[in-house]
Amino acid sequence: MRGFPSLLLLLLLPLFLLRGYPPPAEAATVAEKEILLQFKSAVSQDPLGRLSSWTSSPTSDPCRHFAGVTCGASGDIEKILFHGAGLVGTLPPALSGLPSLQILSLVDNRFSGGIPPQYAGIATLHKLNLSRNALSGAVPGFLGDLPSLRLLDLSGNSFSGVIPPALFRRCFRLRFVSLARNNLSGAIPNSIGNCAGLEGFDFSFNGLSGGLPEEICRPPGMAFVSLTNNSLSGTVADKVSSCRSLEFLHLGSNLFDGSPPFDLLALTNLTYFNSSFNNFRGDFPAIGTCGEKLAYLDVSGNGLTGAIGPGIAKCRGLRSLSLESNRLGGSIPPEIGDLSSLSVLRLGNNEIRGRIPPEVGKMEFLMYLDLHNLQLSGEVPSTITNCRFLLQL
Ligand SMILES: *[C@@H]1O[C@H](CO)[C@@H](O)[C@H](O)[C@H]1NC(C)=O
Ligand SMILES: *[C@@H]1O[C@H](CO)[C@@H](O)[C@H](O)[C@H]1NC(C)=O
Ligand SMILES: *[C@@H]1O[C@H](CO)[C@@H](O)[C@H](O)[C@H]1NC(C)=O
Ligand SMILES: *[C@@H]1O[C@H](CO)[C@@H](O)[C@H](O)[C@H]1NC(C)=O
Ligand SMILES: *[C@@H]1O[C@H](CO)[C@@H](O)[C@H](O)[C@H]1NC(C)=O
Repeated sequence: MRGFPSLLLLLLLPLFLLRGYPPPAEAATVAEKEILLQFKSAVSQDPLGRLSSWTSSPTSDPCRHFAGVTCGASGDIEKILFHGAGLVGTLPPALSGLPSLQILSLVDNRFSGGIPPQYAGIATLHKLNLSRNALSGAVPGFLGDLPSLRLLDLSGNSFSGVIPPALFRRCFRLRFVSLARNNLSGAIPNSIGNCAGLEGFDFSFNGLSGGLPEEICRPPGMAFVSLTNNSLSGTVADKVSSCRSLEFLHLGSNLFDGSPPFDLLALTNLTYFNSSFNNFRGDFPAIGTCGEKLAYLDVSGNGLTGAIGPGIAKCRGLRSLSLESNRLGGSIPPEIGDLSSLSVLRLGNNEIRGRIPPEVGKMEFLMYLDLHNLQLSGEVPSTITNCRFLLQL
């Protein structure tokens, strides 16, 4: 075996030579360099000096010398990436002249103004991540016409107005879009159902209103839906029943009503289900099947009635179960002790009565047990000292 590594090297060496690795790095063209220098001049503050390597000197080649720039083998600029650089400035229209730009990622800076309409011409753009800047104005609908765009993240800016239906009109390759933490209003466009390849969207922390579109799960791979902290209303269960691929659903802090979409609990890939702080009502469902991956179930702050029932024990993967602040009655089902991975259990502020079942002591990972403001009677079972947790009675 001793000779093996050098033998391998001998065998591989000619391969590398033949294929010419590493590829000869071509220099960027003069025109591309000029565009980057326009980007630099649109930056008014660069507190960390991240652009100091971007010089106009004839010997400096963007592909080799410009920090944050990555070129392809042919010397075309493919990526511009500055995260947390503290850059203050505007987005220059000139960037649209880069013929091979695939990734523009300027997360955590202070770029302000809008996205220039010229960017509609960046046909090669795969990923546009402008999260956590100070961009404002309307979300440009033309981004939906970019033929290669897969990831669009405009979260944490000051975009206002409605989500333009045009954003989803064509949806060639769009997989994920985040518009979270802006100042958007109006409804979720129905056109979102056109995006056959969409796997998720995050519109949380805006001022959106209206109902969920019927088409929300027409994209077959829809896995991630976050709409928390908006003013969305209407029923949900009828709209999401076709969402077979869901992994993450966060509807918390809205004005949804009707029955909560508990049918989804049976989905094989669902991990996170949060319908807290809405106006959901009706009896807690008798759970027939529960997906093995379901780890977080939060329906607190609604108007649910009825008893929790033994079926909850079928959700074997649960790590956190929050049902507090509803109008749940009955008693705590002893079967709850079978939830052996549970670390958070909140049942407080309901109309649950009876004794605390000793089976609660079987949950050895329980860290937090909230039973405040219930009509419990009897002693706290001694088995409960098996688990180390913070108890709120
Ligand atoms: C945008 O970049 C941030 C920081 O790297 C990352 O957390 C986020 O997931 C990115 N957005 C998308 C859609 O990839
Ligand atoms: C959000 O938009 C509304 C008008 O739609 C405006 O009155 C408000 O100041 C904006 N808030 C922020 C934080 O930009
Ligand atoms: C989210 O919504 C909840 C309930 O409406 C509210 O208490 C909370 O302040 C909101 N959070 C943010 C960051 O807006
Ligand atoms: C569940 O996840 C697996 C692994 O990511 C995937 O292959 C499968 O298609 C998913 N199931 C559904 C119904 O989406
Ligand atoms: C569910 O969403 C609420 C906001 O609506 C949040 O406070 C809570 O932490 C979330 N629950 C879980 C388990 O993440």
